[in-house]
Order: sequence, then structure tokens, then C-alpha cells
Amino acid sequence: MTIVINMREKLDERKLRVAARLIREGKLVAFPTETVYGLGADALNEKAVKRIFEAKGRPADNPLIVHIADFSQVYELAREVPEEAKMLAKKFWPGPLTIVLPRREIVPDVTTGGLDTVAIRMPKNEIALKLIKLSGRPIAAPSANISGKPSPTTAEHVVDDFYGKIECIIDGGETKIGVESTVIDLTEWPPVLLRPGGLPLEEIEKVIGEVRIHPAVFGKKVDVAKSPGMKYKHYAPDAEVIVVEGPKEKVRRKIAELVEELKKKGKRVGVIGSESYNADEFFYLGETVEEVARNLFKALRYMDKAKVDIVLAEGVEEKGLGLAVMNRLRKAAGYKIIKVD
Ligand code: TXA
Ligand code: MG
Repeated sequence: MTIVINMREKLDERKLRVAARLIREGKLVAFPTETVYGLGADALNEKAVKRIFEAKGRPADNPLIVHIADFSQVYELAREVPEEAKMLAKKFWPGPLTIVLPRREIVPDVTTGGLDTVAIRMPKNEIALKLIKLSGRPIAAPSANISGKPSPTTAEHVVDDFYGKIECIIDGGETKIGVESTVIDLTEWPPVLLRPGGLPLEEIEKVIGEVRIHPAVFGKKVDVAKSPGMKYKHYAPDAEVIVVEGPKEKVRRKIAELVEELKKKGKRVGVIGSESYNADEFFYLGETVEEVARNLFKALRYMDKAKVDIVLAEGVEEKGLGLAVMNRLRKAAGYKIIKVD
């Protein structure tokens, strides 16, 4: 049975205590963060963490992010905490940044996918922070979607994927950022960006200097992935997705053309972007890149429900949140990209 707790209007501490007790008992609780919803369990409880992998259908070598509510918890999880980690945490936590550090033995293999490192983040969401505090445990939480589906940005998305399969879903309304956290590996020098996300890379570089972008971020094939998550196709809707990239006006013209062509062939066409063209289905993403990030996964889920054959997506510039947006879009497209210039 799944309890759904509505906390859209305000945080309810009494109800959060119930959810926190479930975490302590080794149960699964989905909760909102500022990025996307997480599927949480006690990070130090092997059995509980195993159930996350089962529920999601997630490959066992894809490690989880451990969520904390107080910086001191970093020392319980990591055996080395470099100065850069402290600087980044001071500036960006709570917030959409995940830091990879050498792990301590206390963190079970299931949580780290057998790696000698642990990914840690302090989310910027009152419900999440309070849940972690009340449970008294670090909480392992991947995005609360079935593996391969777009990450959830509303509790309804979580209900769609997990109702009846987990013990509790906390509804905290729509998430603010809409793409997952930025993941940075500080076990190497220079540090490596493993996943672009809700915190722009430019902001990180202002604090710790140059960061190397892992080639997998741009879809390059990797043999031994540092972050095994990189090798899996993610965020994929059921329909075929094509990203059209280039200068705005040319992208628009190309999409308009493609819509007509595909419709003539009898295809049901969806468009996600800034205008509807003449498509059968359209999801407006917004003007600013922040709005685009917030709406992206919702748009992909919408297109699944709308049962279109093909989705055409407008590319955006790869700066600020645009790096994360393009990374997710290209993955959703399985790197089917049309470049116009
Ligand atoms: O915003 C987020 O990060 C959300 C919310 C719930 O906090 N969580 C999330 O988790 O996106 P997940 O599991 O969907 O993505 C975690 C990513 C994966 O790409 C995984 O490979 C990487 O972080 N990761 C986790 N632990 C790692 C480690 N020890 N070393 C390298 N990469 C790691
Ligand atoms: Mg995920």
C-alpha cells in the first residue's frame, strides 16, 4: 500500500514524522527536492537500498546519491573532504550540486554500486531537509522514475510510476528546477563534471577554477565509466525524439518543414519548444532557459501520454542551465540530432 501525503500548501511536521519513521524502518519514501522527486531509503540500510534498485528496475552498478541535511554528515560518509568540497558546499548547499568523494566503509556497496566513492548532496527543499533530519539517517535517493523514463517533477509523475510499489509518496507540488543536480567528482584533479544539472558549471568554476567536462556529457562512448549512470540511455519517452540544433530562426524553419513532411507520411507529430508550428501535439517549454529546464521532463512525459510517433525538440544554447537541458534532450533522442547552420 502507498500512502500519499499532500504537503503542497505547507509542511506538516506530524505527517513528516510518519514518513521519517518509514525511512528508519527500511521502507521507501518518495519526496520532493528542488530538482526532481527522489525515491528515498536509508542509505546505510543495504536491504532498503536494494529495494530502490528493484522498484526502479535500475542496473546494480549505477550508484545512488546520498542526501544529507547537515554538513557534518559529510564526515560520516566520506573519508577525505578536500578544501574544494567545503568551498562548494558553503556556497551552493543546500542546492542542486552533488559532490563525489572517497567513501567510508559505513556506506554499503549497494548504495555506491560497488565504487570506492560516494556522491553526496544537500537538497534545497524544506520537506526533504526535514525528512532527512527527522529520520536521523542519510537518505539515498535516485530520481523517482522507473529506469529509462523521464525524471519526475510532480508527485503525479511518481504516482504514475510507483503507486502500489512503495510505502509513501510526499506531494510537495511541482519542483522548482526541473532537471537533476550537477554531479562533480572531486576525487580527481582537476575536478570532473560527470553530469551537468541544476547548478551551472560556470558558477562552480567561479569557486574552484577550471573543471574538466567528462566526454560522456556530450554523448561520447566511454569504456569504464567513472559514473556508470552515464552509459545508460535515460529520460527516454516511448516516441522517437529528434533534436534540432542551430541558430534559433533556422531551427524554427527546419522544424516547420519537418512537421509538414512527417504529417504527409501519416505520422502523428509532437513538438516541444517555443511555438506550435502545425504539429498534432505541442508542449510549450517557455522563454528562458530556466523555464525550459523546469518544463522539459513534463513535456517528455506529456508526449508519451499523447501517443505521438515522433517528437521534434528545439535545441537551446549550451550555457548556464542550457548545458543540462541539451544533455537531457540528446539522451532522450538517443543522440538523433539534426544540425542546421
Ligand atoms: O537532483 C538529483 O540529483 C536527484 C534528486 C532526487 O536529488 N537525484 C538523481 O539521482 O538524479 P539519480 O540516481 O537519478 O542520478 C544520480 C547520478 C547518476 O548519474 C549516477 O551515476 C551518479 O549520480 N553517481 C552517483 N554516485 C556516484 C559516484 N559515487 N560516482 C560517480 N557518479 C555517481
Ligand atoms: Mg535518474
